[in-house]
Amino acid sequence: MKIFRASGRQTGKLATLGGLLLAIGVMTTLVSYSVTLYRLFCSVTGAGGTTQRVAADTAKVSARTVTVFFDTDVAPGLPWRFVPVQRQTVVHLGEEVPVFFEAENTSDRDIVGHATFNVTPDKAGIYFKKIECFCFTEERLAAHQKVEMPVEFFVDPAIADNPSTRDVEQITLSYTFFESKRGDGAQDLARFDAAPDPALGEKLFASQCSGCHEMARAKIGPPLGGVIGRPAGSVAGYPYSPALAQSGITWSTGTLDKWLAAPQADVPGSLMPMAVSDAAVRRDIIAYLSRADGS
Ligand code: HEC
Repeated sequence: MKIFRASGRQTGKLATLGGLLLAIGVMTTLVSYSVTLYRLFCSVTGAGGTTQRVAADTAKVSARTVTVFFDTDVAPGLPWRFVPVQRQTVVHLGEEVPVFFEAENTSDRDIVGHATFNVTPDKAGIYFKKIECFCFTEERLAAHQKVEMPVEFFVDPAIADNPSTRDVEQITLSYTFFESKRGDGAQDLARFDAAPDPALGEKLFASQCSGCHEMARAKIGPPLGGVIGRPAGSVAGYPYSPALAQSGITWSTGTLDKWLAAPQADVPGSLMPMAVSDAAVRRDIIAYLSRADGS
C-alpha cells in the first residue's frame, strides 16, 4: 500500500516535470527572438488551448494603494502599433480595475499576434492577478484594423502580508506582442470592439464617477439612476448650473457620449470637472448607465 502510494506520488511528480518541460519547450519556441525572462503565463496557457484566468476577486478591498505602470512593446518585424491607453493607475489592493490597451495593424495583411507579459518587481508577480485579458489567446488583427483591448486585474492584498513584498509601492506591467506562426484558432481582436460591456462599465463607473455620483441620491453631482431618457439638469433639488439646466439636452446614448467626451465643450458654462477621453470607456459606462435604474 505504502509502495503504491509512493509510486503514485512519483508519477505525479514526473507528470509535473513533463508539463514543465513541455511549457519550457513552448516558451523557447515562442520567444526564441528574445533572451528576456518572460513570465510566459499567457503564451503557455494560450498555446495549450486552455486559459487560466483567476476567478473574480472576493478578497476584501484594502485601504492601501499601489501605483501600477503600463509598458508595451512589439517584437522586431511586427508591424503593429501597440500602446497603453493609460500610463499608470493607482489601485487599492483587492480592487478590480479595468485598463485599456490599443493595438493597430499598420500593414496590408492580416496578422496573428501573441502577447507575453511580465511584472516587475519580480517578487510582486504572484500577487498580480488578471481576470480578463487579451493575452490568453492568439489574436488576429486585420489589415489596418485598430482595436482597444481591456485587461482587468487586481493586486492581491496578501502582498501586504509578505515581509518581502510589503514595501512594494509601484508595479509595472509590461506587454510585448510578437507575430504568431500558428494562426489556426486565432480569435479576432475586433471582438473587444464589438459589444458594449455593462459589467465592465460598472467597474469603470466605480473608479471614475462614483466619487461624485451615485444612482439613487445626489452627491457632488446629481443622481444618475434612470438618466437615459431624462432631460438634462432636471433632478429636483440638485443645484445645477444654469447652463446645463437650460441646455435642452435629453440624455441618450448619443448625447451622453458627447457630454462625457468633453462636458465643457458640449455645454459651455456647465460644471462637471472631468472628461472621459477614451471612447471604449465611455461606451461601457453608458452601457452600464442604460441598465442602472437607480434602485
Ligand atoms: C468631480 C466630480 C464629478 C465626477 C468625477 C463626475 N461627475 Fe458627472 N457631474 C458632476 C457635476 C458637478 C455635475 C452637474 C454639472 C452642472 O450642473 O453643470 C455632473 C453632471 C453629470 C451628468 C448630467 C446629469 C443630469 O442630471 O443632467 C451626467 C450624465 C454625468 N455627470 C455623468 C458622469 C459620469 C458618467 C461620470 C464618470 C465618467 C461623471 N459624471 C463623473 C460632477 C462629476
